[in-house]
Amino acid sequence: MKTIKVLFLASEADPLVKVGGLGDVAGSLPPALRKLTPEKTGGVTLDVRTVIPFHSVVRKKITDAEFLFDFEVSAVDGPVKAQAYKTEANQVPIYLIAGELIGPDAPVYSSDAAIGGQTYIFFSVAVLEFIKILGWKPDILHANDWHTALSVYALKQRQDKEPFFKGIHSVLGVHNLPFMGAGSELALARFGLTPSRWPHLPWWAKDDPLPLGMQTADRIVAVSQTYAKEIMTPEFGCGLEGILKIRQKSVSGIVNGLDMDAWDPSKDQAIPINFDTSTISKRIENKIALTKEFALKPAPDTPLLILISRMDQQKGVDIAIEGLLQALKFNWQAILLGTGDPKLEEACRKLEADYPDRIRAAILFDTALSRRMYAGADILLMPSRYEPCGLAQMMAMRYGCVPLARATGGLQDTIVDFSYSQEKATGFLFKEPNAKAFSETIERALTVFHDQDQWQQIQFNGMRQDFSWEKSALQYVKLYREILK
Ligand code: GLC
Repeated sequence: MKTIKVLFLASEADPLVKVGGLGDVAGSLPPALRKLTPEKTGGVTLDVRTVIPFHSVVRKKITDAEFLFDFEVSAVDGPVKAQAYKTEANQVPIYLIAGELIGPDAPVYSSDAAIGGQTYIFFSVAVLEFIKILGWKPDILHANDWHTALSVYALKQRQDKEPFFKGIHSVLGVHNLPFMGAGSELALARFGLTPSRWPHLPWWAKDDPLPLGMQTADRIVAVSQTYAKEIMTPEFGCGLEGILKIRQKSVSGIVNGLDMDAWDPSKDQAIPINFDTSTISKRIENKIALTKEFALKPAPDTPLLILISRMDQQKGVDIAIEGLLQALKFNWQAILLGTGDPKLEEACRKLEADYPDRIRAAILFDTALSRRMYAGADILLMPSRYEPCGLAQMMAMRYGCVPLARATGGLQDTIVDFSYSQEKATGFLFKEPNAKAFSETIERALTVFHDQDQWQQIQFNGMRQDFSWEKSALQYVKLYREILK
């Protein structure tokens, strides 16, 4: 029986450190891969190990990490000291790399691009040195986003000279294309990495980690099939659509999964009343509790709309606000939850202040509250400008809360629009990223909402979807095997 060895590199991994969706993926995909039996994979097992920086937040959480060894990372101005540690989570070995460029009090993502560049270029290069000293040679180096993309580029540069690195293949996961790691030029030079001479790269991309990783990775994987196609177009490609088209045979999409156990309305401890498809009538009690919690008038027949999101341009929070204003003539209540851009937070607060009888803004990050919202609300609003995969829509569907989202990226791949198929529908999609299209879709959804049988059908369809990580993990195994052929 064959074992495929994978080193999974990320800037964050739940439950050690989670800032966003990447942390969910890095915390869920490696264990899902390790759990696959040879019967499922067709004869292979996976030895997947994760490596992340030993961020200060991780140090606070993991006080008993095993120290492995000190090592050095060579740089043009002299070697930089590093240390390797090891811990475990969900049966996955996790390596933690420390060093002076991963500062003891540094945030996971610095607001200063040059500092962030130093941290992650150092990390990306250090990981290669680390596995060499450890003597563990993975078959696949699976990097993610700009933070670790440079490891793929550095790997290529070292493969010509050092036998240890020969035969290691690479995958680059793309979770958020616009973030390319600009500002890393000095760090690149410091670690002796020359900018790319590939003529197809736009001039501005020659020393940005993400495009360099895209140039050299054996395979580029976006976190949904639609996003994989979108990034080859000018609208979503951020200037890299040209190189992605050139490399299109190596570009594909695999949608993320959801932890189906952790998100299960029949046993979620954080919600007032548990329910499943056979006891869906109990769900209304969660709605009543939720409206009470927010001091909204309990009105079971009034559709309750929610937005649970980072307050960010990407997420189209401005479209939601503007669209709700355009939809005021309809009867609904709404709760908006999230933090982020102070301007958007303020706009949400203003909406509540202007319409205190029907709108609430909860400017906080609270996962338990988000669960009560998924369990009680009728419609989740997700008007993202782009959405590589998205998780909230899957959580919502699991909990019988119907997503209303822009038809983009993973939203398009995980939601079946009502007008496409009434029998199979799991939600409502709209095309244009503007308030008009959004509010028209609210109107469309509200009409269906008042036909309770039809609505329940949509809820059931969503609740019965299989978003399990196992499905996605099997697709990754297929991809790894193709590369290793
Ligand atoms: C990023 C994307 C999100 C995706 C997540 C995990 O946060 O914005 O759409 O779900 O990465 O891949």
